[in-house]
Amino acid sequence: MKAKSLNRNLGAAKAAKQDEFYTQYVDIQKEVEAYLEFDPDTFRGKVVYCNCDDPFESNFFKYFAANFNKLGLKKLVTTSYDGSPIAGAQLTFGEYVEGNGKRQKPKAIAVEIEEVKDVNGDGATGIEDVKLFLKQNPHTRKRLAGGGDFRSTECVELLKQADIVVTNPPFSLFREYVAQLVEHGKKFLIIGNMQAITYKEVFPLIKADRLWMGVTIHSGDREFRVPDHYPLNAAGWRVDENGVKYIRVKGVRWWTNLDHGRRHEKLPLMTMEDNLRFSKHKEIKGKAAYDRYDNYDAIEVPFTDATPSDFDGLMGVPISFLDRYNPDQFEILGYEKSYHLQTRKYDIQVQVDKSGKKSNVTKLNDGVAIRVDRAPADQTYYIVDGEYYIQQYKRIFIRHRRHTRAARGTKK
Ligand SMILES: C[S@@+](CC[C@H](N)C(=O)[O-])C[C@H]1O[C@@H](n2cnc3c(N)ncnc32)[C@H](O)[C@@H]1O
Repeated sequence: MKAKSLNRNLGAAKAAKQDEFYTQYVDIQKEVEAYLEFDPDTFRGKVVYCNCDDPFESNFFKYFAANFNKLGLKKLVTTSYDGSPIAGAQLTFGEYVEGNGKRQKPKAIAVEIEEVKDVNGDGATGIEDVKLFLKQNPHTRKRLAGGGDFRSTECVELLKQADIVVTNPPFSLFREYVAQLVEHGKKFLIIGNMQAITYKEVFPLIKADRLWMGVTIHSGDREFRVPDHYPLNAAGWRVDENGVKYIRVKGVRWWTNLDHGRRHEKLPLMTMEDNLRFSKHKEIKGKAAYDRYDNYDAIEVPFTDATPSDFDGLMGVPISFLDRYNPDQFEILGYEKSYHLQTRKYDIQVQVDKSGKKSNVTKLNDGVAIRVDRAPADQTYYIVDGEYYIQQYKRIFIRHRRHTRAARGTKK
């Protein structure tokens, strides 16, 4: 019992820590500017809401406040969360401590800005003007009795007023966070981990073209600031000259329903025959044919750029395909847990791991399976009725869009 509750606490602590990642200014700037390139009026006349954030310390706040006039915003609303470890570090508001009693951590507030003027008279408008303006205008902020939780009544009221929500929300609440945006029919630009693609709450939105990847982050990792107390035991961390801690996080993506140019770029592809002859991937080049799944009527395409241009059936591609997904070129039909697409269900499976350890499992049914002639030496495999199978990592099922056009009788 004791061990169990200890585990839970560790889990909770881990989840809490994972939520305190602060986005860098340059990552926000690059992403927002990509939408402006596509449509300079993306934010014009709009109410932008940054929740799960920190006015003044967050770079979301700083970017939108500093560029308020350039973007043509109608209003910027930002809410913080009770106990934020960074609130007040650069600009302290009285509201942070009001009614705090013995509590040291700042209380949640909302800040609303409807104009940014040259307050310091230096001939330009920027973040220093916003700082002065906020100091001089206490009416621009209010305490949030609901603690700044994005699900609290006050925050939902602010959400309702908003046109576009932009933030990096707590990853541990990502499903709920996205569901709320969709429920309220909001436009959004948010940061999340790409593994969320196959969440059952998220995938249907991607499939229905109601949610897609952003423009500027496609691979590798991104650096986020973390609170001072954050233990630096992960790979890829640094402390800057001011003692501020940063860690590099893998699998980060922008998620949005704002249109942008990149998703209308056509992915250049070779025919199946040319891929088999000339592909840069050793897994494809020289093969007689693409592998076919044993439990789905689809071929295995292990790399997005190896998608054959002339295959009309279903293709299983890695989830990173979404970084290049153009909805005019392809159609998404499901992912490896779209059980209705399954053509075969396995009964008893023996899993043999890399060390040769055997166990009875059912998980071959939870992914795409490929039958192989012999037991592979260097990877986990499965035995069903004396036949050998391997399972591929997460896959999305896609098909060339011309297929649908042909079925509808339209030309392209
Ligand atoms: C990933 S951090 C990002 C912070 C900031 N938006 C940024 O990108 O720099 C998520 C933030 O959400 C806050 N948070 C956690 N749970 C929350 C909740 N239920 N409602 C609102 N904010 C929450 C955390 O305290 C944290 O500051």
